[in-house]
Amino acid sequence: MEKTVLSGMRPTGDLHLGNLYGALQNWINLQNEDYERFYFVADWHALTTGFDSSKEIPKNTINMVADWLAFGLDPSKSIIFVQSLVKEHAELFLLLSMITPVGWLERVPSYKDQIAQLGKAKTSNYGFLGYPVLMAADIIIYKAHYVPVGLDQVAHLEFTRELVRHFNHTTQKDVFIEPQPLLTKVPKILGLDGRKMSKSYDNAIYLSDSEEETTKKIRIMFTDPRRKRRTDPGVAEECGVFMLHKIFSSKEKQEEIKQACSKAEIGCVDCKKMLIKNLNEALKPFREKRKELLNKEKTIKEILIEGSKKASQKAKETLEEVRDAIFSTGRLR
Ligand code: TRP
Ligand code: SF4
Repeated sequence: MEKTVLSGMRPTGDLHLGNLYGALQNWINLQNEDYERFYFVADWHALTTGFDSSKEIPKNTINMVADWLAFGLDPSKSIIFVQSLVKEHAELFLLLSMITPVGWLERVPSYKDQIAQLGKAKTSNYGFLGYPVLMAADIIIYKAHYVPVGLDQVAHLEFTRELVRHFNHTTQKDVFIEPQPLLTKVPKILGLDGRKMSKSYDNAIYLSDSEEETTKKIRIMFTDPRRKRRTDPGVAEECGVFMLHKIFSSKEKQEEIKQACSKAEIGCVDCKKMLIKNLNEALKPFREKRKELLNKEKTIKEILIEGSKKASQKAKETLEEVRDAIFSTGRLR
């Protein structure tokens, strides 16, 4: 039987190069392999720490999915859907809540990290504590074998696996399977200020940026700090501009730049000019597609509704099994 992969993203709005070449590229690559694929918008998860901006979620969903589709996610190959349109996720979340020890949740590393980062006000709600339970429900409701995620999500996958064992053991039924993370090599992508590219650092380049905006951003981008003067040699491998050349420029060009940088034979201004050209050229078709899609918002909505219907079918089947496992087959229907 075909194996299943599933992954999701919270609808935080437009995607930047880190999201695109980090996460989304892996989702798209999996379209060339023999899997059943589920990719979804985790809009309920966005509420766990962001209830005050709940009104942004519909717009953010459309913009994010426009980026997905423009970049190559294909609704004829992948089931693309919205978490909140498949209510079974909520039912499974509720049922799993009944067997989840609170101590397990408090021990998930992101729990304390997020409280430290976002403060008590945004994280003292019960739904935030339950974030990993909802995520487990998202995954196991489709009996996903593999979950392509970043390293930051591995602890959540471990939690999911524990919960699966606990559920199967408690009910004495093998309803669920333990999903595995699918960690693929992701290119390192730095933001304009030399820190990790991130929306919250305001240092990112977006697919939604125009060519002019992109050009301006790259012009002010940090380079290797060794190159204070044009005559100072640098180390390309430690420069954010070069990390982008690794995605957007040919192997030969990369080699040339590496050498020239180390001998101060090329200036950062010229190095950036090459990057600007290659990057804008590479993104052009995606940017055009994105614009086109956003003019046909209805198409995006239809794709999501269609995908959510398909996802619902499988989710409903699993829920039948879950209810049987918990309440026995004699229950009211
Ligand atoms: N927690 C994930 C993130 O922040 C989003 C997510 C929610 C997810 N449910 C999921 C990812 C299920 C993979 C599988 O990126
Ligand atoms: Fe970075 Fe290019 Fe400048 Fe070297 S020449 S420091 S790789 S921008």
